[in-house]
Amino acid sequence: MSGKIPRHVAVIMDGNGRWAKKRLLPRAAGHRAGLTRMIGLSDHIFACGVEYCTLFALSAENLARPKEELDALFALFCEYFSEYAEPLKEKGIRLKTLGDPALVPENVRKLMREAEEKTRLGERGTLSLAIGYGGRQDIVRACGLLAQKGEPVTAENFAAALSTGGMPAVDLLIRTGKEKRLSNFLLYEAAYAELYFSDLYFPDFSDEAFDSALAEFARRDRRFGKL
Ligand code: FPP
Repeated sequence: MSGKIPRHVAVIMDGNGRWAKKRLLPRAAGHRAGLTRMIGLSDHIFACGVEYCTLFALSAENLARPKEELDALFALFCEYFSEYAEPLKEKGIRLKTLGDPALVPENVRKLMREAEEKTRLGERGTLSLAIGYGGRQDIVRACGLLAQKGEPVTAENFAAALSTGGMPAVDLLIRTGKEKRLSNFLLYEAAYAELYFSDLYFPDFSDEAFDSALAEFARRDRRFGKL
């Protein structure tokens, strides 16, 4: 892989439902295929030299979906946290979750915390999963935290109070599944991210498709508002 490698890549994993519909499968089968792809893709992203990978798994707004779909997603999250924390630890990847833990059922929350604890010393990369996450909500929460601690609102304090505190800003933000919007993801952190939209549904977003996004990123001229 040549060219500039982004330090922080974020992915909106969209299109699982339409992937399943196209195959006359239930939506849960699309999420299962999405999880399989997520596991392969995150390995590939770190193998490319990316240090931070942040994936949008469930927005705060997604929690209004039918119970059947949410139950299927929560079961997948449980499976992932119980089975993949150890392999992540072995690979030196620290797992983090972003979002409001109160929106997640207790059993999922417990496994999330255990997986975070198990992988906390990972130094090769940080994999963050946004679950029950909303960018606006996170901004409001961070403001409340600073007010509560009586800390001055500086750019530094504010960034540290976000769920992504301690991570660099997002360099490359990818959205799969044809739609071209941010959907309340990393609103502050992606201020200068290069945006990349793929028409592929997430389960079809291959390692090679990611490499094309990296190649496009390397061609972009990032000026951060300067000349
Ligand atoms: C959006 O597609 C995708 C989701 C709401 C869920 C994404 C979840 C995964 C990829 C599995 C992740 C697993 C873990 C452990 C984090 P959609 O359902 O909105 O698709 P549609 O727009 O085609 O209906």
